[in-house]
Amino acid sequence: MTGNSRPRVLVIGSGVLGTFVARTVRAWADVVVASRSRPKDPGPHLPIELADPESVASVLGGFDLIINCVHTPELLAEKRVLETGGTLLNLSNLSLSESASLRSYAKGARGTVIINAGLSPGVNSLLCADLLTRYPNADEIRLVMSFSCSESGGPQAVGGLAYRLLARGSRHRTGMFTLAAPYAERQCIEVGSEADGLFGDAAEGRIGRVYFFFVESWFQRSLLALNSVALLRFVPQWLFVLGLKVPDELTSERKGDLVEVALKGQAIAGYRLTGSGDYRLTVAAADVFGRALLDRTPVHPGVHSLEKMVTFTELRTELERVGFKFEFVPAKSSPVEPVTRSSAAGAAS
Ligand SMILES: NC(=O)c1ccc[n+]([C@@H]2O[C@H](COP(=O)([O-])OP(=O)(O)OC[C@H]3O[C@@H](n4cnc5c(N)ncnc54)[C@H](OP(=O)(O)O)[C@@H]3O)[C@@H](O)[C@H]2O)c1
Repeated sequence: MTGNSRPRVLVIGSGVLGTFVARTVRAWADVVVASRSRPKDPGPHLPIELADPESVASVLGGFDLIINCVHTPELLAEKRVLETGGTLLNLSNLSLSESASLRSYAKGARGTVIINAGLSPGVNSLLCADLLTRYPNADEIRLVMSFSCSESGGPQAVGGLAYRLLARGSRHRTGMFTLAAPYAERQCIEVGSEADGLFGDAAEGRIGRVYFFFVESWFQRSLLALNSVALLRFVPQWLFVLGLKVPDELTSERKGDLVEVALKGQAIAGYRLTGSGDYRLTVAAADVFGRALLDRTPVHPGVHSLEKMVTFTELRTELERVGFKFEFVPAKSSPVEPVTRSSAAGAAS
């Protein structure tokens, strides 16, 4: 990036996430979209096949920032940046084993790859890291994600990640959580663990439990009923992806996530995250992260999980400006005192 000129940003993917990330980033950057299918929106476009190293190599050079909105197990774009230089923000949902495999390419890296840079993982991993800084003795972290039957989402997210989590077991455990209004008390279905990568790297060896609930009570009740008779895995995948396409506008359902830390099964503290629309918030967060990253360039070469690069405190104001609301929730009776600045300093001395 030179002087006051606008940065050049490559957005990979013309699915739901890629389309709206490109639209948003166009406000401050010259955007080129690289995708397999032609994008919905007009604008500079380069064809790319992410499973083909030559195709990837021919597209990636010459950008100030690359934002990858596609999940591919090969991670060729990320490996190319590590080898040849540049900065890439990955918004796709990588499992912990995929992140670990990418890290094995980081030795002697010339470029920087930031992974887990969306909402979950992403903003929610920042909240996790913040809670674990205050309560380092916590042995468990929990993430509750809200979904809506009518929300925006592409086949890769809904038919890939969400369906895979829901249909992987015969019967899931459930848990009761107090969520932000209007959801209040909800019975949520436990669908994943820290290995699914939804906490980024924030869990650091602790137990991670991922839950979700649908904001439509009738749908959540149906899922709970199917779960109670061990039939969830028989819900066909096509039912989830039926009719999914890139919409003209993103939906605005009320988000009601919760991140909390626990010790010996008892909640210590948490954050409630609310806002308008899962994808709206993901896109807004990616925009904040992209701008923060460009401000910090050059960043150490290698592979970094977002919450290891920036803190919630640093980005809170900006995230609130783009539509996030955060509420700190102390436990009714906390089994652990938080680490304050003075007690942390005392312990260190
Ligand atoms: N971290 C978060 O908070 C968050 C939030 C939302 C979504 N996500 C993740 O973001 C990813 C995308 O979600 P989405 O809703 O945008 O899904 P989507 O609409 O299905 O988009 C996926 C895109 O990937 C492209 N693609 C797949 N394989 C490719 C390949 N080999 N080469 C080139 N392009 C390829 C598809 O191209 P075609 O159209 O040609 O098939 C499509 O454009 C998913 O991994 C999802 O889990 C993360």
